[in-house]
Amino acid sequence: MSGEFCSTLILVSQNGRFCTMKIVSLAVGLGALIIAALPACAADVTLNDAMKDVVAPKTQIVWDVGNKAMNDKGEADASRLADDDWKQIIEGGSAVSASLKALAGADRLKAAQPGVKIQSEGNPGAWGAADVQKAIDADPRGFKELAMKLATALDATVAGAKARNGQAVQDGSSQIDGLCEDCHKQYWYPNLK
Ligand code: HEC
Repeated sequence: MSGEFCSTLILVSQNGRFCTMKIVSLAVGLGALIIAALPACAADVTLNDAMKDVVAPKTQIVWDVGNKAMNDKGEADASRLADDDWKQIIEGGSAVSASLKALAGADRLKAAQPGVKIQSEGNPGAWGAADVQKAIDADPRGFKELAMKLATALDATVAGAKARNGQAVQDGSSQIDGLCEDCHKQYWYPNLK
């Protein structure tokens, strides 16, 4: 006897993110039954989750700590950073880079969880999650390229921090702001161009 039965449950994890669990039961020879639960949470991380949970807060850490490495004239001065400061740039920057690479690698990126309103949604002229989704679906490659550009700038910042090179951290992090904007102008608020 052989047969397969699949059902999908929607579960809610601690942080409120929806995860789908596929319960797959396989009836195999001699009546043995294999039941496998396949979580699909990772694939369900949305752009909105990534922006709110990782990209925005952790880039803020990179900026704040990176700013400490500047003297009054705005010149890089690595001696102003302590061990923990370098560590924060490395950890924060690496997390943002990994998150962007995951977004760039997603098969079909979801803008937001069902029912979630993105920032400014509902304001006159502002895009909602459905508009963002449409824009990404219309040009997924362009989106991936912009995500990878920012990941590359963060990788350079992290490499600078690993080498304790204040100038490299300053150079890397000074590109970041513009790269956030480049993507937002195209995929979030093109009306403000
Ligand atoms: C590859 C494209 C891309 C890049 C790069 C990018 N973003 Fe975003 N971000 C978006 C899109 C699209 C939205 C609108 C959808 C949404 O709000 O989730 C967004 C939304 C946001 C939001 C609002 C989230 C909310 O509550 O709706 C914040 C905050 C944000 N981004 C911060 C940043 C910062 C900071 C950077 C740079 C370090 C950055 N983003 C880089 C595409 C990008």
